[in-house]
Amino acid sequence: MSRPRRIIVDTDPGIDDAMAIFFALASPELEVVALTTVFGNAHTPVCTANALRLLEIAGRTDIAVAEGAHAPMAMPFRGPADFVHGGDGQGDASLAPPSTRPVLEDAVELIVDRVMSAPGEITLVPLGPLTNIARALQAEPRLAANLAGIVLMGGNAFCGGNATPAAEANVVNDPEAADIVFGAACPIVMAGLDVTERIVMTGAQLDLIGEVDHPRAQHLAAILPCYRRFAREASGLDGIHVHDSTTISYLLAPQHFSHRSHQIRVDTGHGVGRGKTWPRTRPAQHGDDPWAGRPPVTILTDADVDAVVRLELGRLGVGL
Ligand code: RIB
Ligand code: CA
Repeated sequence: MSRPRRIIVDTDPGIDDAMAIFFALASPELEVVALTTVFGNAHTPVCTANALRLLEIAGRTDIAVAEGAHAPMAMPFRGPADFVHGGDGQGDASLAPPSTRPVLEDAVELIVDRVMSAPGEITLVPLGPLTNIARALQAEPRLAANLAGIVLMGGNAFCGGNATPAAEANVVNDPEAADIVFGAACPIVMAGLDVTERIVMTGAQLDLIGEVDHPRAQHLAAILPCYRRFAREASGLDGIHVHDSTTISYLLAPQHFSHRSHQIRVDTGHGVGRGKTWPRTRPAQHGDDPWAGRPPVTILTDADVDAVVRLELGRLGVGL
């Protein structure tokens, strides 16, 4: 097998973040270099504790956790999504506190250090608001040129939002940061709601995770009921949208996805469209061009849902 692809996962764990992290750790094609944390589904210190706990559960305390931003770049934090992920970000499952600690570097320092010391090798996988990534791009102007790429969960190009009618949760939690990241001169893949809301793991499939005799699966079985309750109440869904794990599925099996390529701008205004990711779908006609100079972004638009769900469940130990 070729060398594993090296990734840094920037995350706000988060129930679907936990699924994605375990999915990545169970995939030999990927080497998780570090987890960096950000506010989002919970406040940052809670997300950091959760990241540490997840690595302890997975038996991977060799992987560094670096704490990141506590608030967006240009506004106060909108507040945790406790109605989705529980007050502790992990389904109110009464987890023991972690016994390990984050590294002394903060998230930006770690990202810059690891990327610049391995030029062209590292892919960033952001699963939460893009604050740490934007700050790292600002801190080291050569960062983008030294990345293998960015594969992120966030945004909505051709569909409505989930946090507001216009915008997706990760992007609306820091639109200014997202606009910086979508302008980075490196390959960017956007796994936004266009694709993640098409990928549903059914209740029956989720039940199978609880039958797997492995600490990772048992943790997911403990935290998933909270997420399933929200999906049922919010969308009448017997199952969940597989948001964050879609990044990992794409890294492992890009052939299961269809995509379009467009430049992206993020609405950083303070009206109803704040946080909407706007693809440029027609050429500039006259006057100002807000998309000028932006790199093309690979926007995932659809997937072979059965193949993607089977891939993740299989890696989590579910025999299908
Ligand atoms: O919109 C989905 C995203 O918001 C996911 O990353 C989920 O974890 C929440 O943060
Ligand atoms: Ca997330």
